[in-house]
Amino acid sequence: MATIYINETNKISHINPEIYGQFSEHLGRCIYEGLFVREDSDIPNVNGMRTDVVEALKEIHVPVLRWPGGCFADEYHWKDGIGPREQRKKMINTHWGGVVEDNSFGTHEYFELCRQLGCKTYINGNVGSGTVQEMSEWVEYMTFNGASPMADLRAANGHKDPWRVDFFGVGNESWGCGGNMRPTYYGDLYRRYQTYVRNYDQNAPIQKVACGPNVNDYEWTEKVLDTCFNPSPCHLHGFMDDLSLHYYTTPGSWEHKGSAAEFTTEEWYNTLHKALYMEELVEKHGAIMDRYDPEKKIGLAVDEWGTWFDVEPGTNPGFLYQQNTMRDALVAAVTLNIFNQHSDRVKLACIAQMVNVLQAMILTDKEKMLRTPTYHVFHMYRSHQNAELVENRIEGVETEGRVMYEVPTLQQSVSVDQDGVLTLTVANLSLEKDSPVEVSFEEIKPVSVEAGILTEEKDAYNTFDEPDRVREQTFDGVTVTESGLKFTMPACSVVSLRIR
Ligand code: AHR
Repeated sequence: MATIYINETNKISHINPEIYGQFSEHLGRCIYEGLFVREDSDIPNVNGMRTDVVEALKEIHVPVLRWPGGCFADEYHWKDGIGPREQRKKMINTHWGGVVEDNSFGTHEYFELCRQLGCKTYINGNVGSGTVQEMSEWVEYMTFNGASPMADLRAANGHKDPWRVDFFGVGNESWGCGGNMRPTYYGDLYRRYQTYVRNYDQNAPIQKVACGPNVNDYEWTEKVLDTCFNPSPCHLHGFMDDLSLHYYTTPGSWEHKGSAAEFTTEEWYNTLHKALYMEELVEKHGAIMDRYDPEKKIGLAVDEWGTWFDVEPGTNPGFLYQQNTMRDALVAAVTLNIFNQHSDRVKLACIAQMVNVLQAMILTDKEKMLRTPTYHVFHMYRSHQNAELVENRIEGVETEGRVMYEVPTLQQSVSVDQDGVLTLTVANLSLEKDSPVEVSFEEIKPVSVEAGILTEEKDAYNTFDEPDRVREQTFDGVTVTESGLKFTMPACSVVSLRIR
């Protein structure tokens, strides 16, 4: 029997909604077909954005959407994506499949999508192949309110009012596809470029995200912070508000990542073991950040994470289209629990990617769409957004898997919202064992519990013919006891409890 001890009177840290953020890149069928079909499509749409996808995404309360990349960002020239669509420049998407990018989805379309989703905006700027002037003009185009060359151009293109840019990334993976730079060189470039990311609206300052490390490159973190984090009365956060981190979970090697939908028990545990590595990364990069920024003024922005498997057979290798099973659901559940538990430092995260690419929420096939198991986890976890993490620990947890890929069977996080309602999310990583769980509280005596569960065979997934095979269901196995709660977590499951 495992016991989860919750001290709901001890609030640890605020869970920024942006931890539940999404990422949309000009890659494969994420933007084109997945989100944007143009106004004249037979697929129902509002201003070109497909209605079925937007409506489904609204249910998971997307807090922020990162765009336009990824590697694409450092080859993107924003002026190619404004003005009359038929006159926009075409380019080759060299990173992703070598296809023609017609730039029909650009700045105006992105802000329209965010308007429909009701989410914050996160633009990633081009440092790798773009100029300081280009970046600075983009910020002016998007946010300047008044008469200026770029604001006038925006108005001429049909949008008089400025938009709000909440986050701005200065380069993407500058250690790799974004320019193959070394950390101190990038650090100096960052200082220079970010200077011209102007805050035209002092009431809506842009949060600047510096390119952080790849996985466990601690030297990158150290050197970029050393170069860029230098608090002074005029630069309280140094020159940055967030430092990014990218980490993908893949069971195999980079060349042979493994199939998304056909895998062994060993690969199940291997994948989850690798997903849990996120905690070590957050702690170790966080420890370096603590030395520079003990007050935790800047956030760790894990703005690319998720599973990365071999593409589905017969699909374009450059499109990164993969299926999504219960294994992905468990990866999402444990990762989001880790982010919640470390919400004092993790302030933003974007799963890669929102539609049709890597660990997607939604898959589409022309006019059809389905919600993936990962989507359901985001739905089950949505009440953590904007809540307060409370003190919690679990005891009596067994481990499973092989020595190399041992994982705890259970893992959890707990928060309390503004109405005093507790959200407890628990994942059972075991494929073999149901786990009885007791929950004990410091003070509260629960009066009612609403619970949802996601459970199926390990490799179950949704198809366009059977889109609801894996779906969230009501869980009525929870008993309220004298001292708390009791329930049994089925093997291979995710449970979400709302406790009043
Ligand atoms: O998400 C796919 C790619 O992974 C992104 O473009 C890049 O930033 C990362 O390497």
